[in-house]
Amino acid sequence: MSTTKTQSNLYTIMEERKSVRVYDPAFKIPQVELEAIIQEATSAPSSSNLQPWRFLVIQDEAVKTELRAIANNQEQVETSSAIIAVLGNAEMYQQVEQIYTQNVAEGHMGEAQKDLMITNTLRTYPAAPLEVRKNIATFDAGLISMQLMLIAKEKGYDTVTMGGFDKEKFAQRFELPEHIFPVVLIAIGKAAAPAYGSSRLPLKDIARFI
Ligand SMILES: Cc1cc2nc3c(=O)[nH]c(=O)nc-3n(C[C@H](O)[C@H](O)[C@H](O)COP(=O)(O)O)c2cc1C
Repeated sequence: MSTTKTQSNLYTIMEERKSVRVYDPAFKIPQVELEAIIQEATSAPSSSNLQPWRFLVIQDEAVKTELRAIANNQEQVETSSAIIAVLGNAEMYQQVEQIYTQNVAEGHMGEAQKDLMITNTLRTYPAAPLEVRKNIATFDAGLISMQLMLIAKEKGYDTVTMGGFDKEKFAQRFELPEHIFPVVLIAIGKAAAPAYGSSRLPLKDIARFI
C-alpha cells in the first residue's frame, strides 16, 4: 500500500475543512440534507459499538438567538443555517440489546457472540464511574463530530465546532435528561467569508517513534 499522499477526495476535503465563522444568514440547509449528514456520520466507530451520541438540531431562528446568549455571544450561532448540538449518552449500555440484536439480524455475528457482548457490556459499563462513562461518550462524540464535519464539507457546506458555551445552561434550557450531556455545538451553513486558516505543530513536536 502506498504511503504517499494522493489527490483523493478525502485529502482534499480534510485540507479544505476549516472553521468558518461567517455565514450567509439567508441560506437554509434542507432538513433532508441535515438528516443525511448525521446518518452518514454514524459510520463512526464507538466503544463496544454502543453509539453514545445524540443530536439536537436547532434551526429555529428564535431558539438560535437564545442559544447565542449562552454560547459566548458567538455570531455564527445565529447566522449559520443550523446548530447541531452533539450530546453524549452516559447510559449508553441501555441500548446494548437493541444494537446487538440488530447486529445478528444484519448477519454481522451469531447469537452466541451477541449474548457474550451483552453480558460483558452489562457487567462493565453500569459499574463504571459516571466520569469514566462520560469520557467514553465524549471521545465517541468527538469521532462522529469529525466525520460529520467532513461529510458536510463534501456536500459543500462549512462548519465550526464550538466548545465555548455554558453546558449547564444548555442542559437546563433544552431539558436534557440526567444521563444526556452536551459535548460540542457544530454550526453548519454556507460560508459568507473564508476561514482565517490555522497552523499546525510540526510532526517532531507531536510524535515519538521508538
Ligand atoms: C472542541 C473544540 C472546541 C472549539 N470551540 C470553539 C469555539 O467555541 N469557538 C470558535 O470560534 N471555534 C472553536 N473551535 C474551533 C478551533 O478554534 C479550530 O478548530 C482551530 O483553531 C483550528 O482551526 P481549523 O478548524 O480552521 O482548522 C473549537 C474546536 C474544537 C475541536
